[in-house]
Amino acid sequence: MVGWGVVGQSLAKIFLSRKRELAKKYGFRPRIVAIVDKKGAAINQKGLDLELMLSLKKEKGTVSASGQYGRPDMSALDVIESVEAEAVVEVSPTNIEDGEPGLSYIKTAFRTGKHVVTTNKGPLALALPALTELADHNKVYLRFSGTVGAGTPVLEFAKNCLQGDRLVSVKGILNGTTNYILSEMDEKHITFDEALTAAQKLGFAEADPTMDVDGYDAAAKLVIMANWIMDRKVTIKDVNIKGIREVSAQNIQDAAKKGCTIKLIGVIGETLKVEPTQISKHDPLAVDGALNAVTFVSESAGEQTIIGLGAGGVETASAVLRDLLDIKQNIANKMMT
Ligand code: HSE
Repeated sequence: MVGWGVVGQSLAKIFLSRKRELAKKYGFRPRIVAIVDKKGAAINQKGLDLELMLSLKKEKGTVSASGQYGRPDMSALDVIESVEAEAVVEVSPTNIEDGEPGLSYIKTAFRTGKHVVTTNKGPLALALPALTELADHNKVYLRFSGTVGAGTPVLEFAKNCLQGDRLVSVKGILNGTTNYILSEMDEKHITFDEALTAAQKLGFAEADPTMDVDGYDAAAKLVIMANWIMDRKVTIKDVNIKGIREVSAQNIQDAAKKGCTIKLIGVIGETLKVEPTQISKHDPLAVDGALNAVTFVSESAGEQTIIGLGAGGVETASAVLRDLLDIKQNIANKMMT
């Protein structure tokens, strides 16, 4: 486990509280053999005591304070390289400039024969086509359900439930923070700055909220969808991006008079774009608060919209769990054929 923030810890709590059920229902008995946080690592090939790891983080600020298993001297790359493990859960913070350090973590995991489940949008937005090739080359799986829609199975819906059909286009609200801001401006007639402060207090916004408000977070998610569900070999450079800073209270009130609202919508059509868009209040995409909503238009099945929370630690951890189970099932299927 690389990263021991809210997502990693939430996953550990799920492992602890649902241990018997996961074993019984899925034959899944996860053993976390290493955890890396900002100040070092803890390693035990027999499996770390997760209760202890959670309390160490709370009380000492790092898992590396664990006397017997603590390794304050070890970097994440050293750990990924040297520890024996089947998979790396890469839940380090997103960096959309150069994807690092997540990008190197993922590549090192592949190189050393480990599957990767990540929630990190940076490496994927910049290099998803190359990373999927590299995973194939190394005969390992790369999964990233939690990067789009947090716990809402946006990627799986398109990939699995619409299997066999042909997707024509996709459009959606992919960023909870901006949706919250725009909804609050519409409902409460408050300013952009007041709404942003509220979103930060509620913890939806990225550490650097420009990622959210300038549309980069939504664009990263659009790129992930385009690659994974529509086989487009694109990166964030291929997206026309416009954020919500210039949306005024007046724009929103003018839209409201026409029965419309303004949302930050990402579209995968002929081209890829993210921009503030006026839509009817009756459009299925007109969801409020920090919700995400994505409409898929497919050739035979028509239009469907999936709506759900697009941010949150435990929600995102539920997607990581789904990915781990998916990898486990894929491996089992392969062994049977
Ligand atoms: N900052 C993101 C959002 C978090 O507001 O949607 C989830 O990716």
